[in-house]
Amino acid sequence: MKDFKLELAKLLNTKIDTLSVEEIYGMIEVPNNVAMGDYAFPCFKLAKALRKAPPMIAKDIVDTLGEIDFIEKAENVNAYINFFLNRSVFVKEILLAVLADRESYGLAKEKNKGNVVVDYSSPNIAKPFHVGHLRSTVIGNSLYHIFEALGYNCIGVNHLGDWGTQFGKLIVAYKKYSSKEEVEEKGISELLRIYVLFHDEAKEHPEMDQEARNYFTKMEQGDEEALALWKWFKEVSLNEFERVYKMLGVTFDSYNGEAFYNDKMDAVIKDLEDKGLIEISEGAKIVRLDEENMAPCLITKNDGSSLYATRDITAAKYRKETYEFKKCIYVTALQQNLHFAQWFKVIEKMEWDWAKDLVHVPFGMVSMEGGAKLSTRSGNVIFLEDILKEAVDKTKKIIEEKNPDLDNKDEVANQVGIGAVIFDDMYNNIIKDIQFSWERVLDFQGETGPYVQYTHARACSLLKKAGLDIDNLPDLEISESAIADDTVLAVAKELADFKNVIESAAANFEPSYIARYAVDLAQAFNKFYNEQPILVGDEAVKNSRLAVVIATKYTIKNALHLLGIKAPVQM
Ligand code: ARG
Repeated sequence: MKDFKLELAKLLNTKIDTLSVEEIYGMIEVPNNVAMGDYAFPCFKLAKALRKAPPMIAKDIVDTLGEIDFIEKAENVNAYINFFLNRSVFVKEILLAVLADRESYGLAKEKNKGNVVVDYSSPNIAKPFHVGHLRSTVIGNSLYHIFEALGYNCIGVNHLGDWGTQFGKLIVAYKKYSSKEEVEEKGISELLRIYVLFHDEAKEHPEMDQEARNYFTKMEQGDEEALALWKWFKEVSLNEFERVYKMLGVTFDSYNGEAFYNDKMDAVIKDLEDKGLIEISEGAKIVRLDEENMAPCLITKNDGSSLYATRDITAAKYRKETYEFKKCIYVTALQQNLHFAQWFKVIEKMEWDWAKDLVHVPFGMVSMEGGAKLSTRSGNVIFLEDILKEAVDKTKKIIEEKNPDLDNKDEVANQVGIGAVIFDDMYNNIIKDIQFSWERVLDFQGETGPYVQYTHARACSLLKKAGLDIDNLPDLEISESAIADDTVLAVAKELADFKNVIESAAANFEPSYIARYAVDLAQAFNKFYNEQPILVGDEAVKNSRLAVVIATKYTIKNALHLLGIKAPVQM
C-alpha cells in the first residue's frame, strides 16, 4: 500500500534540500481538525537555514508545488502548509490494499525476523490464579501476537513459580493438615487452605518455618519423597490453570518454570564468582548494586538455597542460548520492578551484551468493585475462573434480551464475555491500575470489547443481507465518485493507520494502542454506517460502500486477534 505521508515527504524533499526525506517524514503532522487538511508541514525549522520567516517559506513552497495527483489542495496558513489529500485516490488505494490482504492485512509480509521470547502468566503452583495473573496472561498473549504480526517468531514461556521455600511450607502443611483425598477432591483451594493455616500457626510456632526450610533444602538436594509431593502439587495446580487458559484461548510454547533451572544455577553462580561479582554477606552470596543505588541482588541464602533472582538470571541465560532471542519480554505486576531492575543489572555486570534485549513490561493492579482483596495469603481470594464464568453468564443474559433467536448463544456468550474481560484489561495504558466494574466491562455501547465485536457482527450481518457469503467475500468494483464523503474518509484513515499502530504498540510494549485503535475504527465505521445508506439501488455506489464494510470487517477482526479476542459473526 502506498504510504501517502512518505509520498508527501518525498515531494517536499524536492523543494527542501536542507532536510532528508526521513526528517521531513518525522515533521509531518496529522491535524486534529480536518479543516486544516489531512497532513500539515510546519516550516519553523527551515527559517535558520533559509534566512526567511517561516510564513514566507510556507508560501514559497506552496507557490512552486504545481499539480500533484494525490493532493487535491495545498494551502499555506501562517508557518504551516496544510495538505488536502485527493480523497478518492486515497480511499480507493487503502480499500484495495485491505481487500488484497484480508486476514493478513496489517501483518508483515516479511517473516523470520528473529525470535522474541515472551514470559507471561507464570502463576505460582499451589496458589490460585488471580486477576493479576489474568493481566499478565492477556497482555503477554497480546504482545506475542503483536510481535508475530511484525514478522518475529515468538516463543511463549510460562515461567511457573514452581520452586522456592514455599514448597517446603506446603509439604509441612500437607503432612499436618491434609490428605491425598482432600487434595484430589478440592485441588488448589485445599492447597491454599493449608498454606494459609501454616502461615497463621507459624506466627506462634517459628520452628515450623525452620522445618519448612529443611524440606526445601531436601528438595534442592533431590530427596525423593519431597520431590514426589512437589510434583503432585504441581500437577494438581496445572490442571486448574489449564482450565483457565482454555477459557481464555491462550497457549504456551514452554512450561519451563523455576524448577527447570535447578541444575543449571551452579554454573551461573560460578560464573558470577569468576567475574568477581559475588560478595559474601552474613553467609549469603550477594551482588552489590551500590553504584546503581539499589539494594544488593541476593544470589544464595546463608543455607545455600537459591532465590527467585538466581533462577531468573539462569533462565535468561538458558533462553539466550536456546532461542538466540532478539528480545526477551517479562510481563509482571509493577511491584516486581525492583526485582527485574536488580537482576537485569547483574546480567549487565556479567558483560553479557544481550542485557539490553531484556525488557520488563510492568502493569498496574486490578481491584474489584466493592474492594474485595486479591491477596492469596489472606484466603479472601477472588478466583479468576469465577470472574470469567460470571462474565459469560452475564453476557448470555444480555444476548438473550437483545437477540433471543441467536442459534449459538453459548458460544457467542463465551467469546463476548471473555473478550470483554480481556479487552478491559488492555484498554488503558497497562501501567494504570484498574478498578474492575461489570457495568463498564459489559457495556455494548461503551469503549469496550463487546462494542468492537458488535460492530464486527453488524458488518457481517449487513454483508449477509447484501447476499454475500461472508466466508468467501468477493472483490468488488470501487468507483471513486462513491467514496468521497467525510465518513468514508474517516474510516479509510483508520484503516490506513493499522500498521503504524501495530508498530508503535510493539515499540512501546503497549497492547492498549491496539484496543484504542479498535474502538476508533469501530466508531468511525458506525458513523459511516449510520449516515450512509449502503444497500442502495445504484450498483456502483452499493459495491463501493460494501467494500468499505468488508475492509472494516477484516481489520476489526485482525485487531481483535492481536488482543487475543474472537470476532463472532453475529451476536
Ligand atoms: N511467578 C511470579 C508471580 O506470580 C511471576 C514470574 C514472572 N516471570 C519471571 N521470569 N520472573 O509473581
